[in-house]
Amino acid sequence: MDQNEMKKAVAAAAAKYVEERLEAGTVIGVGTGSTANCFIECLAPFKDRINCTVASSEETKSRLLKLGIPVMDLNGVNEVSIYVDGADEANAQLHLIKGGGGALTREKIIAAVAREFVCIADESKLVSVLGRFPLPVEVIPMARSHVGRAIVRLGGDPVYREGFITDNGNQIIDIHNMSIVDPRELEQQLNQITGVVTNGLFAIRPADLLILGTRDGIRTVKA
Ligand code: A5P
Repeated sequence: MDQNEMKKAVAAAAAKYVEERLEAGTVIGVGTGSTANCFIECLAPFKDRINCTVASSEETKSRLLKLGIPVMDLNGVNEVSIYVDGADEANAQLHLIKGGGGALTREKIIAAVAREFVCIADESKLVSVLGRFPLPVEVIPMARSHVGRAIVRLGGDPVYREGFITDNGNQIIDIHNMSIVDPRELEQQLNQITGVVTNGLFAIRPADLLILGTRDGIRTVKA
């Protein structure tokens, strides 16, 4: 299987996992990115049995609506039963780096609400230490330089993602060259910097299940 086939395979496995757990009021959280897009396609065959979804980005929302899958605002639902999303990196504890596509804040909000968080990824995303993939941080625009200086003090190299505006109207700084040995601690430290909306470490609320696509087939990892 090449990387694209792995993405399709994990998306199909996650859709099957969700379909088997569908109940009358099930709310499905839907992630953002190329792997999540494959998952959206896999929802189409049973869309008539889907009560509602919540979307982690405007892009995902429009893809769901185009397929005729109902989408609600997160404030309109009492809970999210299951959230399926990709990741840029994952470790064995199912701590993740997310936000390569810039949707980290809405993704983190849905992950916080979700009863179960299922991450889908191809094997290239599994690492022993997080940080080779630049860690995204969403910032309020006027705080960008202040946040950048604070990141340097923490030992990272901040790079402004020029020309990119998040769905929330904010900017992104990507932190390069940081080996993240304590993801929970760094997640907290970054969120303490005034002007940070959130960062792409998902360690305080990690995934519950990782469905990993490998050359030899699908492998599941539990936290
Ligand atoms: C979107 O902001 C990200 O968190 C994505 O979930 C992540 O970047 C994975 O994307 P791919 O599935 O495209 O690799």
